[in-house]
Amino acid sequence: MEVRFRIFRFDPESDKEAYFRTYTVAAIPEERILDCLNRIKWEQDGTLGYRMSCAHGVCGSDGMRINGVCALACQKLVKDYTVSEEITLEPLPFFEVRKDLIVDMDRFLARIDSMRPYLVQDKDPPEKEWLQSPEDHKKVEEVIRCILCACCTGACPVMRDNPNYVGPAALVWAYRYLYDTRDGRFTSRLDKLNEPNSVWPCVNQFECTRVCPKNIPITKSINFMKQEIKKQLPGKGK
Ligand code: SF4
Ligand code: FES
Repeated sequence: MEVRFRIFRFDPESDKEAYFRTYTVAAIPEERILDCLNRIKWEQDGTLGYRMSCAHGVCGSDGMRINGVCALACQKLVKDYTVSEEITLEPLPFFEVRKDLIVDMDRFLARIDSMRPYLVQDKDPPEKEWLQSPEDHKKVEEVIRCILCACCTGACPVMRDNPNYVGPAALVWAYRYLYDTRDGRFTSRLDKLNEPNSVWPCVNQFECTRVCPKNIPITKSINFMKQEIKKQLPGKGK
């Protein structure tokens, strides 16, 4: 079958404004959107810009908006869309466009970094390694699946109204270290989460949870941390 793609194009070095360009490719229903993008780039237009690496939902580099919904191009198939119409590909919303479907991830990654996504511990390290029981691992096993694709952040309606909101992905990483029993910074991590643009701007729209390619219960995790702040920091929670 022939599939028509309408793709966002913008090169800040040469274009005054963004535009859409349409490409038609032969594809089978089981092919991934990423396969089609590769064919467009390799056979029709080598100037098209997008990121990809693993092609198997592991590296998180090909997050984009496909027919209005943030997703990984390597996880979505042609048959997931109504191919009688065009499939529209756009960069993740709320991110600055570097070129075409490539966005600037610097601020997104800096916000994750602000959550100190690593273990901090004052105790002397054990002879071999910090151990974690299977029960303790269970507390964080859903959130450690995050691949930093930024689909959640691009889908979050709060980001549109409040660009200073730290965003769902940063909160997923905050949760991951808050509840890791090998970490020694529980209270200061909670203080950080109690800042005005941390957990509190979330108003439970669940868009992040709907689009997460790793099925992380993002909104539930944010609500859990809100409850934790109210419990552990009396008088501090909203
Ligand atoms: Fe992507 Fe899910 Fe991680 Fe958000 S939480 S960055 S949607 S994997
Ligand atoms: Fe790696 Fe899609 S290319 S997640």
